[in-house]
Amino acid sequence: MRTTPMESERVAADVRRAVEDAIWAPSVHNTQPWRFGVRGARITLRADPDRRLGVADPMGREMLISCGAALYTLRLSLRMLGYDPVVHLLPDPDRPHLLADVDLRPGEPADAAVELEHAQIRRRHSHRGGFLPDPVPAGVQSLLRHAAEREGARLVQAVDANVKGALAALTDAAEHIQRRSPAYATEIARWAPAPGTSRRDGVQEGAYPQRTPQTAPYFPARDFARGQGWGTEPDPDDGTARSGLVVLLVSGGDTPAHWLKSGQALQRVLLRAAEHGLSAAYHTQALQIPDLRAFIRTQFCADADADPQLLLRLGAVEGEGRSSVRRPVEEVLTGEPG
Ligand SMILES: Cc1cc2nc3c(=O)[nH]c(=O)nc-3n(C[C@H](O)[C@H](O)[C@H](O)COP(=O)(O)O)c2cc1C
Repeated sequence: MRTTPMESERVAADVRRAVEDAIWAPSVHNTQPWRFGVRGARITLRADPDRRLGVADPMGREMLISCGAALYTLRLSLRMLGYDPVVHLLPDPDRPHLLADVDLRPGEPADAAVELEHAQIRRRHSHRGGFLPDPVPAGVQSLLRHAAEREGARLVQAVDANVKGALAALTDAAEHIQRRSPAYATEIARWAPAPGTSRRDGVQEGAYPQRTPQTAPYFPARDFARGQGWGTEPDPDDGTARSGLVVLLVSGGDTPAHWLKSGQALQRVLLRAAEHGLSAAYHTQALQIPDLRAFIRTQFCADADADPQLLLRLGAVEGEGRSSVRRPVEEVLTGEPG
């Protein structure tokens, strides 16, 4: 895109606005493992390997899913600003942390669908606990499946109660395994700071309840409080909470490109869900343990011939959901020499 100096200024301001949106993507343990660079009409997205979970995510799979979610949000925000972003995924095999080049081209003014989706970026919050009893309507389930497919991934729904029960039990087993690992506990401690912290990353006290209601089946939440009693006022447990719609987000391969696509699909699904008043809870414990992930693949993803990337529960929650924090945009956005 050729620009005059005045247009360049506008583009720079728009890029900043788009990155301000992109950082509201979800990321594993709120690590925000991304860096954005801008040179003229090209934005680059890089992974920040210092923020990778060395114990839980040695391959950087969840780091790239997180960056993929930020990439989708960036694309959406640019469309909201009237651009037609052209994405080159993993443009340089010699620089694996360079995840995407995004070239700005003039596009159409945003339509109502883009505006509605864009409005969800900051309304969306991760949920930790049970859901209201209202089922997710079949029409919405199909919209969510379609959203994942549009980004090159798929949703495999656990319809059978036994499949749902098995996935809950595997999550429980993984949670026990991780709780007894000192290396894992140290890593959680790094990313779940004590209340009162001034940090702008990590899963903080305001983001999780002290206790989660029992559901059938029960999917344990991660132990961010580590026995310290941290967390917000617990959700009422009157026996009506449900585990919600249980889905595996899967991809037809397990390479960095598949992880980036899965991340983009994740955010597209989450924003579409938010449009319909739905939140998501994540349970990635079992998928962080290679033997359990392989088991889930053979038992529950063989029909789809796909690799499981995320386990999610979806449903409606009371109120606006719990807040999370983000680092200021200056920390993640740098200009690059022209
Ligand atoms: C790849 C990935 C894995 C995640 N795994 C979990 C998880 O196992 N448990 C959990 O409570 N949240 C999980 N999350 C949600 C993050 O903790 C959450 O996105 C982050 O804390 C920011 O909060 P927000 O989503 O409310 O903005 C995961 C998110 C991503 C993208």
